[in-house]
Amino acid sequence: MVRGAARPVVAAARRLLERAAARPGVARVMRRTAAELQDALRRSHWRSDRRNELYGASYYGIGRDPGGDRAGRSGYARYDRVTSNAEVAGHLVWRTFGGARTVLDVGCATGLVVEVLRELGLDAQGCDVSAYAVANPSPGADGHLRVGDLLGGLPYGDGAFDVVTALETLEHLPPDQVDRALGELRRVCGGVLYATIPSFGPNGGGGPDGHMVGKVRPERMEHYRSLGEGYAGPVAFDDLARDAAGNPVEGHLTIASFGWWTERFAAAGFRRRADVERRMVGDLVPELAAAWNLYVLTVPGADEALLADRAPGSSLVSLGLRHPLYEGAGAPGAEGGATATGP
Ligand SMILES: C[S@@+](CC[C@H](N)C(=O)[O-])C[C@H]1O[C@@H](n2cnc3c(N)ncnc32)[C@H](O)[C@@H]1O
Repeated sequence: MVRGAARPVVAAARRLLERAAARPGVARVMRRTAAELQDALRRSHWRSDRRNELYGASYYGIGRDPGGDRAGRSGYARYDRVTSNAEVAGHLVWRTFGGARTVLDVGCATGLVVEVLRELGLDAQGCDVSAYAVANPSPGADGHLRVGDLLGGLPYGDGAFDVVTALETLEHLPPDQVDRALGELRRVCGGVLYATIPSFGPNGGGGPDGHMVGKVRPERMEHYRSLGEGYAGPVAFDDLARDAAGNPVEGHLTIASFGWWTERFAAAGFRRRADVERRMVGDLVPELAAAWNLYVLTVPGADEALLADRAPGSSLVSLGLRHPLYEGAGAPGAEGGATATGP
């Protein structure tokens, strides 16, 4: 906040900057400078992040080789709108839940999905257990993120959101804490829960089946395969795949079957909606359809209008999605394809 004597000076500087930004060449330099400033702030935060928490700066790619070499460590080599596939995830949520006005993204990281949803006109908020991520929001999510722990209670009221999303997040909780977390998601959810969770076994919903490769220690795969389709999980802690530091890969603690997760959702009061999942999968390029094990769930009495397709018969690309996976042939709607297999 600007106070007292500084106020007119700052106001004049703002007017000058605004006028300068109207010139395309100057605007380009300003954008580059803004990006550099944000990076510098993030790097400085990383250096002072002595606690080296699991979901600290390094998890989101800070201080890593941006070329993509993660050296076997968990977390992202680079975390942005394209690499995280937030572009696709945001457009997909906006399009699928056409009657939604309010959205909460739980495990939002730096708020990239929140940013996309807000650009698309929704009232989107986000929360994450990572103080680093919340303190370093993507610009369009600034002011709309809060620190929130699924296991400690989320800072929102009962049924506060039409749609709650939890993307690549629930597998980060220990199995014995999953029911508690789902109870908290149920509490804040006013209509629809949309989650993506790496899962194995027969899908039982509207998408492709899952697998265990990369999630279970290679030397234990044969054992788990021998258990057959009836095995539901979760995989024992000692059998989880490890990263170069010997920790569960990507921080994934609950690796379970579609059947197991569906049961846990049902116990928390959610009903799985294969019909809507089918629609969503139809919008995904093959890479994403295989990587995103998705679950759409409704609470009793949910307004069906929330699930209205915002633009029946259209592809995400025709609705404005721009993403490398959706460029060229092979994309749904004959226009192109989408996302990530991140942590
Ligand atoms: C793999 S990242 C996914 C980030 C984002 N949803 C995406 O898809 O790009 C997992 C996120 O879950 C968050 N997380 C882990 N445990 C959590 C908890 N107990 N409550 C809230 N967020 C949590 C982490 O901080 C991290 O940002």
